[in-house]
Amino acid sequence: MTKTTLPGTGIRISPIAFGAWAIGGWFWGGAEEKESIRAIECAIDNGMTTIDTAPVYGFGQSEGFTGKAVKGKRDRVQIFTKFGIRWDKMTPNLHFEKTKNNQGEEVSIYRDGSKESVIKECEDSLRRLNTDYIDLYQQHWPDTHIPFEETMDALQILKKQGKILAGGVSNYTVKQMADADKYFHLVSNQVPYSMVLRDIEEELVPYSIANSKAIIAYSPLQRGILSGKITSAYKFNDGDHRPETAYYKEPNLSAINQMLKEIKPIADSKNSTLAQLAIRWALYQPGITCVLAGVRNEKQVLENIKAGEITLSCDEMKIINSKLNLLALEV
Ligand SMILES: NC(=O)c1ccc[n+]([C@@H]2O[C@H](COP(=O)([O-])OP(=O)(O)OC[C@H]3O[C@@H](n4cnc5c(N)ncnc54)[C@H](OP(=O)(O)O)[C@@H]3O)[C@@H](O)[C@H]2O)c1
Repeated sequence: MTKTTLPGTGIRISPIAFGAWAIGGWFWGGAEEKESIRAIECAIDNGMTTIDTAPVYGFGQSEGFTGKAVKGKRDRVQIFTKFGIRWDKMTPNLHFEKTKNNQGEEVSIYRDGSKESVIKECEDSLRRLNTDYIDLYQQHWPDTHIPFEETMDALQILKKQGKILAGGVSNYTVKQMADADKYFHLVSNQVPYSMVLRDIEEELVPYSIANSKAIIAYSPLQRGILSGKITSAYKFNDGDHRPETAYYKEPNLSAINQMLKEIKPIADSKNSTLAQLAIRWALYQPGITCVLAGVRNEKQVLENIKAGEITLSCDEMKIINSKLNLLALEV
Protein backbone atom coordinates (compact mmCIF):
# COMPACT_ATOMS: atom_id res chain seq x y z
CA MET A 1 0.00 0.00 0.00
CA THR A 2 1.45 3.40 -0.95
CA LYS A 3 2.13 5.38 2.21
CA THR A 4 0.87 8.88 2.85
CA THR A 5 2.13 11.61 5.18
CA LEU A 6 0.29 12.91 8.21
CA PRO A 7 0.05 16.61 7.29
CA GLY A 8 2.62 18.82 9.00
CA THR A 9 4.70 15.86 10.20
CA GLY A 10 7.22 13.50 8.69
CA ILE A 11 5.15 10.52 9.79
CA ARG A 12 4.43 8.13 6.92
CA ILE A 13 1.32 6.04 7.47
CA SER A 14 -0.72 3.45 5.62
CA PRO A 15 -3.87 5.23 4.38
CA ILE A 16 -5.88 2.14 5.29
CA ALA A 17 -5.06 1.48 8.93
CA PHE A 18 -5.78 -1.34 11.35
CA GLY A 19 -8.68 -0.39 13.65
CA ALA A 20 -8.09 -2.20 16.92
CA TRP A 21 -11.33 -1.53 18.79
CA ALA A 22 -12.97 -4.92 18.16
CA ILE A 23 -9.91 -6.86 19.33
CA GLY A 24 -10.41 -5.25 22.73
CA GLY A 25 -13.50 -7.44 22.98
CA TRP A 26 -15.55 -4.90 24.92
CA PHE A 27 -18.66 -3.86 22.95
CA TRP A 28 -17.85 -6.52 20.34
CA GLY A 29 -18.76 -9.76 22.11
CA GLY A 30 -15.19 -10.70 23.02
CA ALA A 31 -11.97 -11.27 21.09
CA GLU A 32 -9.44 -14.08 21.07
CA GLU A 33 -5.82 -13.17 21.86
CA LYS A 34 -3.92 -15.38 19.39
CA GLU A 35 -6.25 -14.55 16.49
CA SER A 36 -6.04 -10.82 17.26
CA ILE A 37 -2.25 -10.78 17.49
CA ARG A 38 -1.97 -12.80 14.27
CA ALA A 39 -4.27 -10.25 12.59
CA ILE A 40 -2.00 -7.35 13.57
CA GLU A 41 1.14 -9.23 12.49
CA CYS A 42 -0.50 -10.08 9.17
CA ALA A 43 -1.44 -6.41 8.70
CA ILE A 44 2.10 -5.21 9.34
CA ASP A 45 3.62 -7.85 7.04
CA ASN A 46 1.24 -6.86 4.25
CA GLY A 47 1.66 -3.10 4.39
CA MET A 48 -1.14 -2.04 6.75
CA THR A 49 1.47 -0.69 9.12
CA THR A 50 -0.59 1.92 10.97
CA ILE A 51 -2.57 0.74 13.98
CA ASP A 52 -5.23 2.72 15.82
CA THR A 53 -6.02 1.65 19.36
CA ALA A 54 -7.10 3.17 22.69
CA PRO A 55 -6.76 2.31 26.38
CA VAL A 56 -10.51 1.86 26.77
CA TYR A 57 -10.72 -0.74 23.97
CA GLY A 58 -11.07 -3.71 26.27
CA PHE A 59 -9.68 -1.78 29.26
CA GLY A 60 -6.07 -2.19 28.13
CA GLN A 61 -6.61 -5.39 26.10
CA SER A 62 -6.34 -3.86 22.63
CA GLU A 63 -3.20 -1.89 23.53
CA GLY A 64 -1.78 -5.01 25.20
CA PHE A 65 -2.35 -7.18 22.11
CA THR A 66 -0.86 -4.43 19.95
CA GLY A 67 2.20 -4.27 22.20
CA LYS A 68 2.75 -8.02 21.81
CA ALA A 69 2.23 -7.94 18.03
CA VAL A 70 4.65 -5.08 17.36
CA LYS A 71 7.49 -6.61 19.35
CA GLY A 72 10.54 -6.69 17.07
CA LYS A 73 8.65 -4.74 14.37
CA ARG A 74 8.26 -1.35 16.04
CA ASP A 75 10.36 0.49 13.44
CA ARG A 76 7.94 -0.62 10.71
CA VAL A 77 4.79 0.42 12.59
CA GLN A 78 2.98 3.66 13.33
CA ILE A 79 0.92 3.56 16.51
CA PHE A 80 -2.05 5.85 17.03
CA THR A 81 -3.54 5.67 20.49
CA LYS A 82 -5.72 7.88 22.64
CA PHE A 83 -6.23 9.38 26.07
CA GLY A 84 -8.96 11.04 28.08
CA ILE A 85 -11.29 8.15 28.93
CA ARG A 86 -10.89 6.70 32.42
CA TRP A 87 -12.54 3.68 33.98
CA ASP A 88 -10.37 3.73 37.11
CA LYS A 89 -11.18 7.24 38.26
CA MET A 90 -14.36 9.31 38.62
CA THR A 91 -14.51 12.83 37.15
CA PRO A 92 -17.44 15.29 36.84
CA ASN A 93 -17.71 14.27 33.16
CA LEU A 94 -19.52 10.93 32.88
CA HIS A 95 -18.93 9.38 29.44
CA PHE A 96 -20.76 6.06 29.73
CA GLU A 97 -22.74 4.82 32.68
CA LYS A 98 -22.52 1.21 33.80
CA THR A 99 -20.91 -1.11 31.32
CA LYS A 100 -19.30 -4.51 31.89
CA ASN A 101 -15.52 -4.66 31.67
CA ASN A 102 -13.72 -7.71 30.23
CA GLN A 103 -13.92 -9.45 33.62
CA GLY A 104 -17.70 -8.96 33.68
CA GLU A 105 -17.54 -6.31 36.42
CA GLU A 106 -19.75 -3.25 36.19
CA VAL A 107 -17.83 -0.02 35.62
CA SER A 108 -18.67 3.53 34.60
CA ILE A 109 -16.43 5.50 32.28
CA TYR A 110 -15.45 9.17 32.62
CA ARG A 111 -13.79 11.76 30.41
CA ASP A 112 -10.63 13.32 31.77
CA GLY A 113 -8.57 15.87 29.85
CA SER A 114 -6.61 17.09 32.88
CA LYS A 115 -2.87 17.49 32.48
CA GLU A 116 -2.19 15.01 35.27
CA SER A 117 -4.35 12.37 33.59
CA VAL A 118 -2.88 12.85 30.11
CA ILE A 119 0.67 12.44 31.45
CA LYS A 120 -0.25 9.37 33.53
CA GLU A 121 -2.25 7.74 30.73
CA CYS A 122 0.64 8.18 28.32
CA GLU A 123 2.96 6.24 30.64
CA ASP A 124 0.35 3.46 30.96
CA SER A 125 -0.08 3.25 27.18
CA LEU A 126 3.66 3.19 26.52
CA ARG A 127 3.99 0.28 28.94
CA ARG A 128 1.10 -1.71 27.44
CA LEU A 129 2.23 -0.96 23.90
CA ASN A 130 5.76 -2.12 24.60
CA THR A 131 7.27 1.06 23.17
CA ASP A 132 8.90 4.32 24.20
CA TYR A 133 6.98 6.58 21.80
CA ILE A 134 3.52 6.96 20.29
CA ASP A 135 3.30 8.26 16.72
CA LEU A 136 -0.05 10.03 17.11
CA TYR A 137 -1.62 10.68 20.52
CA GLN A 138 -5.29 11.67 20.31
CA GLN A 139 -7.80 12.95 22.84
CA HIS A 140 -10.55 10.35 22.52
CA TRP A 141 -13.47 12.68 23.31
CA PRO A 142 -13.49 16.38 24.26
CA ASP A 143 -13.69 17.08 28.00
CA THR A 144 -15.73 20.25 28.41
CA HIS A 145 -14.82 20.41 32.11
CA ILE A 146 -11.11 21.05 31.44
CA PRO A 147 -9.82 24.09 29.49
CA PHE A 148 -8.26 23.20 26.13
CA GLU A 149 -5.14 25.08 27.25
CA GLU A 150 -4.50 22.55 30.02
CA THR A 151 -4.98 19.45 27.85
CA MET A 152 -2.93 20.88 25.00
CA ASP A 153 -0.16 21.85 27.43
CA ALA A 154 0.12 18.19 28.41
CA LEU A 155 0.50 17.23 24.73
CA GLN A 156 3.22 19.87 24.37
CA ILE A 157 5.11 18.41 27.33
CA LEU A 158 4.87 14.85 25.98
CA LYS A 159 6.03 15.98 22.55
CA LYS A 160 9.04 17.80 24.01
CA GLN A 161 9.90 14.64 25.94
CA GLY A 162 9.74 12.61 22.72
CA LYS A 163 7.03 10.35 24.12
CA ILE A 164 4.66 11.35 21.33
CA LEU A 165 5.58 12.44 17.81
CA ALA A 166 2.31 14.27 17.11
CA GLY A 167 -0.98 15.09 18.81
CA GLY A 168 -4.53 15.07 17.56
CA VAL A 169 -8.12 14.90 18.71
CA SER A 170 -11.15 12.74 18.10
CA ASN A 171 -14.85 13.50 18.02
CA TYR A 172 -14.16 17.26 18.16
CA THR A 173 -16.36 19.82 16.44
CA VAL A 174 -14.68 22.32 14.13
CA LYS A 175 -15.01 25.06 16.76
CA GLN A 176 -13.49 22.89 19.47
CA MET A 177 -10.62 21.97 17.17
CA ALA A 178 -9.92 25.57 16.18
CA ASP A 179 -10.00 26.66 19.85
CA ALA A 180 -7.67 23.88 21.02
CA ASP A 181 -5.32 24.41 18.07
CA LYS A 182 -4.40 27.84 19.48
CA TYR A 183 -2.43 26.09 22.24
CA PHE A 184 -0.91 23.12 20.42
CA HIS A 185 -0.53 22.25 16.76
CA LEU A 186 -3.16 19.58 16.22
CA VAL A 187 -2.46 17.27 13.34
CA SER A 188 -5.75 15.43 13.04
CA ASN A 189 -9.35 14.82 14.05
CA GLN A 190 -10.62 11.23 14.16
CA VAL A 191 -14.32 11.12 13.37
CA PRO A 192 -16.99 8.71 12.13
CA TYR A 193 -17.36 8.63 8.35
CA SER A 194 -18.88 6.10 6.01
CA MET A 195 -21.19 5.81 3.01
CA VAL A 196 -24.13 6.10 5.42
CA LEU A 197 -22.78 8.74 7.84
CA ARG A 198 -21.48 11.80 6.05
CA ASP A 199 -22.20 14.79 8.30
CA ILE A 200 -18.53 15.85 8.46
CA GLU A 201 -18.69 16.86 4.80
CA GLU A 202 -20.46 20.08 5.71
CA GLU A 203 -17.97 21.72 8.09
CA LEU A 204 -15.06 19.51 9.13
CA VAL A 205 -13.94 18.56 5.62
CA PRO A 206 -13.63 22.18 4.35
CA TYR A 207 -11.99 23.27 7.62
CA SER A 208 -9.47 20.42 7.49
CA ILE A 209 -8.57 21.03 3.85
CA ALA A 210 -8.16 24.77 4.46
CA ASN A 211 -6.03 24.24 7.58
CA SER A 212 -4.03 21.16 6.48
CA LYS A 213 -5.47 18.90 9.16
CA ALA A 214 -5.83 15.17 8.68
CA ILE A 215 -9.24 13.59 8.93
CA ILE A 216 -8.91 10.05 10.22
CA ALA A 217 -12.17 8.35 9.33
CA TYR A 218 -13.51 5.70 11.69
CA SER A 219 -16.19 3.02 11.23
CA PRO A 220 -15.95 3.09 7.40
CA LEU A 221 -17.96 -0.14 7.24
CA GLN A 222 -20.47 1.33 9.70
CA ARG A 223 -19.19 -1.42 11.98
CA GLY A 224 -19.60 -4.22 9.45
CA ILE A 225 -22.98 -3.58 7.85
CA LEU A 226 -21.45 -2.12 4.68
CA SER A 227 -19.83 -5.48 3.95
CA GLY A 228 -23.34 -6.65 3.08
CA LYS A 229 -23.19 -9.61 5.49
CA ILE A 230 -25.70 -8.33 8.03
CA THR A 231 -29.23 -9.67 7.56
CA SER A 232 -32.05 -10.00 10.06
CA ALA A 233 -30.85 -13.59 10.64
CA TYR A 234 -27.25 -12.59 11.45
CA LYS A 235 -26.09 -14.06 14.78
CA PHE A 236 -24.11 -11.66 16.95
CA ASN A 237 -22.06 -12.82 19.95
CA ASP A 238 -23.41 -11.94 23.39
CA GLY A 239 -22.20 -8.48 24.32
CA ASP A 240 -21.96 -7.25 20.71
CA HIS A 241 -23.38 -3.72 20.70
CA ARG A 242 -24.39 -3.62 17.06
CA PRO A 243 -27.92 -5.04 17.15
CA GLU A 244 -28.87 -2.17 19.49
CA THR A 245 -27.68 0.57 17.13
CA ALA A 246 -29.97 2.35 14.70
CA TYR A 247 -28.21 1.19 11.52
CA TYR A 248 -28.80 -2.46 12.43
CA LYS A 249 -32.53 -2.03 13.04
CA GLU A 250 -35.39 -1.75 10.58
CA PRO A 251 -36.17 0.11 8.41
CA ASN A 252 -32.48 1.07 8.14
CA LEU A 253 -31.07 -2.43 7.75
CA SER A 254 -33.22 -3.19 4.70
CA ALA A 255 -32.61 0.25 3.18
CA ILE A 256 -28.85 -0.14 3.51
CA ASN A 257 -28.92 -3.66 2.08
CA GLN A 258 -30.99 -2.45 -0.86
CA MET A 259 -28.46 0.32 -1.54
CA LEU A 260 -25.65 -2.26 -1.35
CA LYS A 261 -27.47 -4.47 -3.85
CA GLU A 262 -27.61 -1.52 -6.24
CA ILE A 263 -23.90 -0.70 -6.02
CA LYS A 264 -22.74 -4.34 -6.00
CA PRO A 265 -22.34 -4.44 -9.82
CA ILE A 266 -19.59 -1.83 -9.45
CA ALA A 267 -17.80 -4.01 -6.87
CA ASP A 268 -18.33 -7.11 -9.05
CA SER A 269 -16.90 -5.36 -12.10
CA LYS A 270 -13.64 -4.94 -10.18
CA ASN A 271 -13.65 -8.41 -8.61
CA SER A 272 -14.03 -6.61 -5.31
CA THR A 273 -16.19 -7.10 -2.27
CA LEU A 274 -18.63 -4.56 -0.91
CA ALA A 275 -16.38 -4.05 2.12
CA GLN A 276 -13.49 -3.12 -0.17
CA LEU A 277 -15.74 -0.77 -2.14
CA ALA A 278 -16.92 0.98 1.05
CA ILE A 279 -13.36 1.45 2.33
CA ARG A 280 -12.11 2.67 -1.03
CA TRP A 281 -15.07 5.05 -1.40
CA ALA A 282 -14.25 6.64 1.98
CA LEU A 283 -10.59 7.03 1.08
CA TYR A 284 -11.48 8.73 -2.22
CA GLN A 285 -13.45 11.48 -0.50
CA PRO A 286 -11.92 14.97 -0.25
CA GLY A 287 -10.04 15.65 2.98
CA ILE A 288 -9.81 12.05 4.15
CA THR A 289 -6.19 11.20 4.98
CA CYS A 290 -6.63 7.80 6.55
CA VAL A 291 -9.42 5.26 6.90
CA LEU A 292 -9.45 3.07 10.00
CA ALA A 293 -10.78 -0.31 9.00
CA GLY A 294 -11.75 -2.28 12.08
CA VAL A 295 -10.67 -5.91 11.83
CA ARG A 296 -10.65 -9.04 13.95
CA ASN A 297 -8.72 -11.62 11.94
CA GLU A 298 -6.24 -12.21 9.12
CA LYS A 299 -8.97 -12.82 6.53
CA GLN A 300 -10.49 -9.41 7.11
CA VAL A 301 -7.04 -7.79 7.14
CA LEU A 302 -6.12 -9.25 3.75
CA GLU A 303 -9.49 -8.36 2.26
CA ASN A 304 -9.47 -4.78 3.56
CA ILE A 305 -5.88 -4.08 2.52
CA LYS A 306 -6.83 -4.87 -1.08
CA ALA A 307 -9.31 -1.98 -1.03
CA GLY A 308 -6.28 0.22 -1.68
CA GLU A 309 -5.83 -1.40 -5.10
CA ILE A 310 -9.28 -0.52 -6.43
CA THR A 311 -9.71 2.45 -8.71
CA LEU A 312 -13.07 4.15 -9.05
CA SER A 313 -13.75 6.51 -11.94
CA CYS A 314 -15.58 9.82 -11.52
CA ASP A 315 -18.63 8.24 -13.18
CA GLU A 316 -18.57 5.29 -10.77
CA MET A 317 -18.27 7.62 -7.79
CA LYS A 318 -21.20 9.62 -9.18
CA ILE A 319 -23.34 6.48 -9.47
CA ILE A 320 -22.50 5.41 -5.91
CA ASN A 321 -23.15 8.90 -4.55
CA SER A 322 -26.48 9.13 -6.36
CA LYS A 323 -27.60 5.91 -4.59
CA LEU A 324 -26.32 7.21 -1.26
CA ASN A 325 -28.17 10.50 -1.72
CA LEU A 326 -31.43 8.59 -2.05
CA LEU A 327 -30.97 6.83 1.30
CA ALA A 328 -33.29 8.19 3.98
CA LEU A 329 -32.20 6.52 7.21
CA GLU A 330 -33.88 6.91 10.56
CA VAL A 331 -30.86 7.57 12.77
N1 LIG B 1 -12.39 7.67 18.05
C1 LIG B 1 -13.49 7.00 18.27
O1 LIG B 1 -14.35 7.42 19.07
C2 LIG B 1 -13.72 5.72 17.52
C3 LIG B 1 -14.99 5.11 17.51
C4 LIG B 1 -15.16 3.94 16.77
C5 LIG B 1 -14.08 3.41 16.08
N2 LIG B 1 -12.85 4.00 16.14
C6 LIG B 1 -11.67 3.42 15.45
O2 LIG B 1 -12.00 3.12 14.10
C7 LIG B 1 -11.79 1.71 13.87
C8 LIG B 1 -12.79 1.20 12.83
O3 LIG B 1 -14.11 1.42 13.25
P1 LIG B 1 -15.06 0.24 13.78
O4 LIG B 1 -14.22 -0.88 14.25
O5 LIG B 1 -16.03 0.90 14.70
O6 LIG B 1 -15.94 -0.14 12.52
P2 LIG B 1 -15.72 -0.63 11.03
O7 LIG B 1 -14.32 -0.51 10.64
O8 LIG B 1 -16.74 0.07 10.24
O9 LIG B 1 -16.16 -2.16 11.14
C9 LIG B 1 -15.33 -3.07 11.76
C10 LIG B 1 -15.99 -4.43 11.92
O10 LIG B 1 -16.56 -4.89 10.70
C11 LIG B 1 -16.31 -6.29 10.53
N3 LIG B 1 -15.48 -6.42 9.33
C12 LIG B 1 -14.27 -5.85 9.08
N4 LIG B 1 -13.82 -6.15 7.85
C13 LIG B 1 -14.77 -6.91 7.29
C14 LIG B 1 -14.89 -7.52 6.02
N5 LIG B 1 -13.95 -7.38 5.09
N6 LIG B 1 -16.01 -8.25 5.76
C15 LIG B 1 -16.97 -8.37 6.68
N7 LIG B 1 -16.92 -7.82 7.92
C16 LIG B 1 -15.82 -7.08 8.21
C17 LIG B 1 -15.58 -6.75 11.78
O11 LIG B 1 -16.52 -7.19 12.78
P3 LIG B 1 -17.20 -8.66 12.80
O12 LIG B 1 -16.23 -9.60 12.21
O13 LIG B 1 -17.46 -8.90 14.24
O14 LIG B 1 -18.45 -8.48 12.01
C18 LIG B 1 -14.95 -5.48 12.29
O15 LIG B 1 -14.69 -5.48 13.65
C19 LIG B 1 -11.91 1.09 15.27
O16 LIG B 1 -11.36 -0.21 15.32
C20 LIG B 1 -11.17 2.13 16.08
O17 LIG B 1 -9.78 2.00 15.90
C21 LIG B 1 -12.67 5.16 16.83
